[in-house]
Amino acid sequence: MRIILDTANLEDIRYFNTYYPIEGVTTNPTILSREGGDVLKLLRDIRDIIGEDKELHVQVTETEYENIIVEAKAIVAYLGNKKNTFVKIPATDTGLRATKALSDEGYGITVTAVLTAAQALLASNAGAAYVAPYVSRLENICEDGVGTVADIAEIFSVSGTDTQILAASFKTVKEVLDVAVCGCHAATVGSDVMKKLLAHTTTDTSIEGFASDWKKSFGETTLLKLLKK
Ligand code: G3P
Repeated sequence: MRIILDTANLEDIRYFNTYYPIEGVTTNPTILSREGGDVLKLLRDIRDIIGEDKELHVQVTETEYENIIVEAKAIVAYLGNKKNTFVKIPATDTGLRATKALSDEGYGITVTAVLTAAQALLASNAGAAYVAPYVSRLENICEDGVGTVADIAEIFSVSGTDTQILAASFKTVKEVLDVAVCGCHAATVGSDVMKKLLAHTTTDTSIEGFASDWKKSFGETTLLKLLKK
């Protein structure tokens, strides 16, 4: 399962893009509003940091059909990378119509704010590249977010659709791993959960132990220093 970063914070994007094997960045109006300022420059800066080969998902803010179409095309034209710029469109009737029209023209559409497998099925039939089910938002209202992703994975597998699942809205590492087990294609994860995917105190103490044991026997040298002699 591919991992994508769910933030527009440039410092976080620089950090995770350098150290973690992320395959892109997702944004939405809330995420962009957290950063504020010149939003077009922000999107350009995100693209510059991640480069042209990684995915950048940007959500439409227009709500009328004709305006969504124009806005989606303008977003892609501005960022100048049709292959790796995905336009996020919410799972509504107008959103499905726009998804169909834009997908038919070769735009990559991520149907977002997906809360049910039925919505995902319709989005797939409309030609979406991705559907983005909101795992934590479902779990938080005592619904089965992970089970919904599992249902979507099963439906997509049976139908053979090209639409992929980009699960979103994670509050715990367990949720991320649970959707990975379900056969989810990708997960977009915020900075806090991303850090927790890697961090473990026993990893830290193990590394400290290796360093201490090495130093006791070999002092300040390293294998590199010995090999260069
Ligand atoms: O990309 C949007 C999605 O991840 C929402 O996440 O944390 O606001 O539920 P959250």
